[in-house]
Amino acid sequence: MSWGGIIHAYRDRLPLPAAVQPVTLFEGNTPLLPAPRLAAALKGDLDLRLKYEGLNPTASFKDRGMTMAITHAVAKGAKVVICASTGNTSASAAAYAARAGISSAVIIPSGKIALGKLTQALIHGAKLLPILGNFDDALNLVRQMSNLPGVEVVNSINPVRIEGQKTASFEILEALEKTPDFHFLPVGNAGNITAYWKGFCEAIPKGPRPRMFGWQAAGAAPLVDGHIIKDPQTVATAIRIGNPASGPGALAAAKESNGRIDKVTDKEILEAYQLLAKTEGIFVEPACAAPVAGLKKAIAAGWIPKGSLVTMTLTGHGLKDPDTALSVAAKPSEPITPTVDAARKALGL
Ligand code: F0G
Repeated sequence: MSWGGIIHAYRDRLPLPAAVQPVTLFEGNTPLLPAPRLAAALKGDLDLRLKYEGLNPTASFKDRGMTMAITHAVAKGAKVVICASTGNTSASAAAYAARAGISSAVIIPSGKIALGKLTQALIHGAKLLPILGNFDDALNLVRQMSNLPGVEVVNSINPVRIEGQKTASFEILEALEKTPDFHFLPVGNAGNITAYWKGFCEAIPKGPRPRMFGWQAAGAAPLVDGHIIKDPQTVATAIRIGNPASGPGALAAAKESNGRIDKVTDKEILEAYQLLAKTEGIFVEPACAAPVAGLKKAIAAGWIPKGSLVTMTLTGHGLKDPDTALSVAAKPSEPITPTVDAARKALGL
């Protein structure tokens, strides 16, 4: 069967008006990659599989929810979609709005959006509105603008976003033909962990289901610290969020699955980010490395029994954030004259 996007594949499990034509860029159907070298580097005796969501059309998992949100917005006759974003939602909203022929407006924390995401929103023609504030302030503003005529909010406070994102759980179960023991993923505004848990609960009504392990950055860990963080800070700008809208959903997923929400430092995130790139050839943005660092912590703590099947979502592509990559990677050598001798000397061959 040829792939036609998540609405085409899972229409019977998604809430949609009957006659509606999906707005799609053929998102979903992302690979579930075995990661034996990473597992060994983390000193884990486990079967690790990586759901590489950076291979979606706009290079993040947001496209699963956005095909649903924009399809609904068009069906309702919306002329403008609006969102607050740390970058990926805005890139996805801008692309899907362009695909649908409607406009998009995105509200972002000034100066804290990775270069690739900003570029995407701009090239797709979004109206970009930076604010003097963080993501939580931006979402607060969007909530206040949600009743304007012809405007549809496409953040994950719009429940159809969660519906679309739950399809990643369906794909994992279909690819494995069995249930993972654990599922690891990063947590920011907490919509995605809520969506994965919904997907697993719907697909496996009687259990047993994966234990959900969600990871926040230590400087932006309201669900771990137990209170709103007024000035969240982390190198993983995608999850720089102090007051997650779907916080209750994340806490419920962890509780009901006998999992946990935990945190890792920026140093641990940046180490895991490079380790994944070097051991498996998979380049992600820093937020995706939070669960990699989390798995290291979980293995060291003895939380993962030997032989466990662990799935992990890598939420966005590394090219989204070239600045962070360049800040940690080795620098290229000085230019040489193009002779074999000079090249051998420079390369140490
Ligand atoms: N990973 C990436 C790459 C993200 O962009 C986000 C969220 C998350 C993880 C966390 O997912 O919010 O569902 O818990 N990005 C949002 C945005 C906030 O605006 O692009 P979550």
